[in-house]
Amino acid sequence: MSTIRKKLIAGNWKMNKTAADGAALAQEILAQVGRETAVDVVLCPPFTALESVGRALEGQAVKLGAQNMNPQKSGAYTGEISAEMLRTLYVSHVILGHSERRTYFGDTDAFVNQKVLAALANQLKPILCVGETLAEREGGRTLEVVRTQTQAALAGVTAEQITTVIIAYEPVWAIGTGKVASTAQAQEVHAYTRSLLHDLYGAALAQKVRLLYGGSMKPSNAPELLAQPDIDGGLIGGAALEAKSFVELVKAALVAG
Ligand code: 13P
Repeated sequence: MSTIRKKLIAGNWKMNKTAADGAALAQEILAQVGRETAVDVVLCPPFTALESVGRALEGQAVKLGAQNMNPQKSGAYTGEISAEMLRTLYVSHVILGHSERRTYFGDTDAFVNQKVLAALANQLKPILCVGETLAEREGGRTLEVVRTQTQAALAGVTAEQITTVIIAYEPVWAIGTGKVASTAQAQEVHAYTRSLLHDLYGAALAQKVRLLYGGSMKPSNAPELLAQPDIDGGLIGGAALEAKSFVELVKAALVAG
């Protein structure tokens, strides 16, 4: 448990929900935890639902996040979305480096780094995703992969900026598979990530950065994960698509405090 770091529960809706369905889900969530300030809650709908969900969130404590962003300011980048475009829709957070983007859309560590720097330059809070594949875990390379991805993504991020970065540890083998990392496996990587931050930014700042766990997190396994000393919240996929399970996760974070 941590008193310095407020818990954060973020819902990554991935390629789900139309603008109308997204707004309806947001309303349902707001009805139950809309005024909750003891836990930070972020909803990350697809780009096409940002406006409608943003409108639903107006005046509430729940924040709006995007799932990706192009680091360029503007120009001939067909199909891409800039930081400024997100800002004008009242987006405050942006998921970067998700393993699905790394796997299916070729996002490299260097590109993720450019995105992180561009997000920070535009006052967007990055939710930086890192994590190993099953082959990498079985090959004993988990910490090395997490180190490489984390260090590369944070290159050029200043001490002033680091506390606005959120890092999500998402073991690729646990995403959408129903196979959750054990609390010991998750805590080990989180503690390691914090030690990397300690080396890069010093002890005080490392203690302030929030580290989320992601990968088949649901109401049944959340309490144990959220009780770990270095797990400061969750990045939720499947269980974020229904108000009931998502609200239960927010409540689990409240209890874990
Ligand atoms: P699941 O919760 O569906 O495993 O997805 C996790 C995830 O990828 C969140 O970004």
